[in-house]
Amino acid sequence: MPTPLVVGNWKMNPPSIAEAVALAQALRAPLGAVEGVERVVCPPFVALPAVADALAGSPIVLGAQNVHPQPKGAFTGEVSGAMLQGVCSHVIVGHSERRHSLGETDDFVNAKVLAVLGLGMTPVLCVGETLEERDAGEASAVVERQTAAGLAGVEPGDVTKVVLAYEPVWAIGTGRAATPETAQEMIGGIRAHLVRLTDSATAAQVRLLYGGSVNAANAAELAALPDVDGALVGGASLDPDAFVAIARAFATRA
Ligand code: PGA
Repeated sequence: MPTPLVVGNWKMNPPSIAEAVALAQALRAPLGAVEGVERVVCPPFVALPAVADALAGSPIVLGAQNVHPQPKGAFTGEVSGAMLQGVCSHVIVGHSERRHSLGETDDFVNAKVLAVLGLGMTPVLCVGETLEERDAGEASAVVERQTAAGLAGVEPGDVTKVVLAYEPVWAIGTGRAATPETAQEMIGGIRAHLVRLTDSATAAQVRLLYGGSVNAANAAELAALPDVDGALVGGASLDPDAFVAIARAFATRA
């Protein structure tokens, strides 16, 4: 079983760099003390250097919330993977807030996955269906399509370097997490799809996270699911007590 992983996606929070540093300082000792789980926090770009300083020497590592696939050039407002190297070990790609509000396509997300892998960092590839797609009975097909497209061109030996996060769009920021049955069914489906794309030994090593309204109260039942290797946490990652409790719940899987 792969080492569990919890990733805090701070999104466009907190409102200042000073508050981001304060959050990192509040997490540093209690989250650093939770063994048996990899811990990643993803602050906004502008806060990355200051949060890196605040977490220096701790086992908590940094991720970015996005990246542009090109190494440099005329891409106003974008940040390249090379700029993140040395600061971040992980990069979230294909978050539904970017797919749906900013029109990111499967192909663009795939280019990001390849760029991040090429730079030796870990992509956290988000997939998940909307409520409309679920109601239309298309949830598994959508997630399979996003998974296959996101991993296109990834060398078979590199698939284990990708983290996949199943984040049903209807569960993100709504307080309505997927039930354990749904989370297991969908994430088990991703694992089965990975077996078809690679082989069972490789598929067993890929970290599959659940994301969408994970909190201190539901983390233990999610962590108990056979195919859920960790969590991608939004709102609750801004509350140090809650994020530490979530990390502890997943640490017991190790
Ligand atoms: P949430 O967000 O935990 O606030 O639902 C999860 C995410 O968007 O990654």
